[in-house]
Amino acid sequence: MSETKKTLLVIGSLNMDLVVTAPRHPEIGETITANDFHTFPGGKGANQAVAAARLGGNVKMIGKLGCDPFGDQLFDSITRNGVDATFVTRDPQTPTGVALITVDQQGENTILIVAGANGRVTVTDVQAAAPAFTDAAILLLQHELPQAAVEQAIHMGKAHGLKIVLNPAPARELSDELLAEIDYLVPNESELSLLSGLNSLEASIRMLLSRGVQRLIVTLGGDGAILATPQQQIHVPAFCIEPVDTTAAGDAFLGAFTVALSEGADLREAARRGNAAGALTATKPGAQPSLPTRQELEQFLRTRASVKD
Ligand code: RIB
Repeated sequence: MSETKKTLLVIGSLNMDLVVTAPRHPEIGETITANDFHTFPGGKGANQAVAAARLGGNVKMIGKLGCDPFGDQLFDSITRNGVDATFVTRDPQTPTGVALITVDQQGENTILIVAGANGRVTVTDVQAAAPAFTDAAILLLQHELPQAAVEQAIHMGKAHGLKIVLNPAPARELSDELLAEIDYLVPNESELSLLSGLNSLEASIRMLLSRGVQRLIVTLGGDGAILATPQQQIHVPAFCIEPVDTTAAGDAFLGAFTVALSEGADLREAARRGNAAGALTATKPGAQPSLPTRQELEQFLRTRASVKD
């Protein structure tokens, strides 16, 4: 990998995660007694920004918080982790976004999001953050902000020659014109299926490639990731771990993947590092507190083989 450090620009959500761990997820209409409750800094955008910064990336973030204690804590979390938050603004009229998360004994979660200030990021906000695009090499986005803001950022990123990495989470319709601007599309299996309208993984991959996607990276949790381009399809195996809480494992993948790309890694190596960061994250509770440092990632990669190595 080359030593040149390139700036990653992340535009996305910041949420306070209200997390209940329980023996299992309740059924509709059912009340069960949970084990415990914690608040953790989260939000896909902030998680991916912090993941990349902990792994040594130069990271800038664009986003919006409320003027409330959750907003203060989230701002503190990203800046303490080295993310440049110059373009994270505060909205006095709207509370900070929250996510209600249930984690079961297998470490699997359900998440309900209340967008709050994230839902107030506008095209004008993105335009006002234009200086952040000038020295960036990669733009990383998700789908927890209004679509107009996401699209504006993609157009500006393209105009500035940035590589565009889109994690379409949660999944929503993407036009062929927008797909053509994405350099790396990184859905999980269920997002891929929603994007394609198909159940089969293989058929969904074929469909997205036929719509013009250049590089499709499908994250499969405990099964690793698939890299698909018009020329080839590769499976990158997962690392075997005992999951405690899978929250933000996908965000850790994205953070590690983009840092590796910014350091000159090829697609397979970037995904291998993404898988390792995701695995490490799933071994600890919470979103941002569970994201690995560079040292932890390198140590894990030195000592652990992926399941099919
Ligand atoms: O990807 C995990 C994240 O999704 C959580 O931190 C939650 O805030 C939601 O945005």
